[in-house]
Amino acid sequence: MNKEMAIRNVTPMDHARVIAVMPAWWGGRDLTASVQKLFFIHFANTSFIAEARDELVGFLIGFLSQAEEDVGYIHFAGVHPDYRKAGLGRVMFEKFFEVCKAHRRWVVKSCTSPVNKLSIAFHQHMGFAIEAGDGMVDGVPVSMNFLRANDPKVLFRKELK
Ligand SMILES: CC(C)(COP(=O)(O)OP(=O)(O)OC[C@H]1O[C@@H](n2cnc3c(N)ncnc32)[C@H](O)[C@@H]1OP(=O)(O)O)[C@@H](O)C(=O)NCCC(=O)NCCS
Repeated sequence: MNKEMAIRNVTPMDHARVIAVMPAWWGGRDLTASVQKLFFIHFANTSFIAEARDELVGFLIGFLSQAEEDVGYIHFAGVHPDYRKAGLGRVMFEKFFEVCKAHRRWVVKSCTSPVNKLSIAFHQHMGFAIEAGDGMVDGVPVSMNFLRANDPKVLFRKELK
């Protein structure tokens, strides 16, 4: 992360900018329906935007679980392709970990699709374990029906203590 980058909490006005870049950042996959403007309102204090001279270069949408009292959940995170492998993803995740600790959330969870090998590698470098599931895809444990029937997801978990 270079000195010209700044990380701040999201505002509702950031939503349109984020969904505009998502398909390109996800290699053509359009996952924008999963990133709703509501999150930029009600998860604003646990979600971040990274900018370099006003250009959007990263975002993280996270929240504190309502149902699991010790859990923080990272719903989506992305870094501009030209800014990857320079530590920005790590910095945003660590910022979220700090928010979690401040709220006594000692477990961080996240998930990804098994096709997203990059995300799996990134989470493993960030110290996440893959949770045991009820299936395997490409040698990776998956939960087959986590968010929808027959839509396998790799579930991640990291203890902050
Ligand atoms: C996943 C993503 C957010 C990582 O952002 P990034 O800024 O490049 O990540 P960092 O540079 O902070 O890397 C953090 C660690 O992950 C590792 N890592 C990052 N990308 C990797 C890759 N493609 N393959 C293997 N390891 C990788 C780094 O080596 C680093 O490990 P280290 O600190 O132990 O050396 C970014 O690649 C991205 O936006 N991908 C597309 C969107 C996506 O799939 N998001 C899902 C993530 S929730």
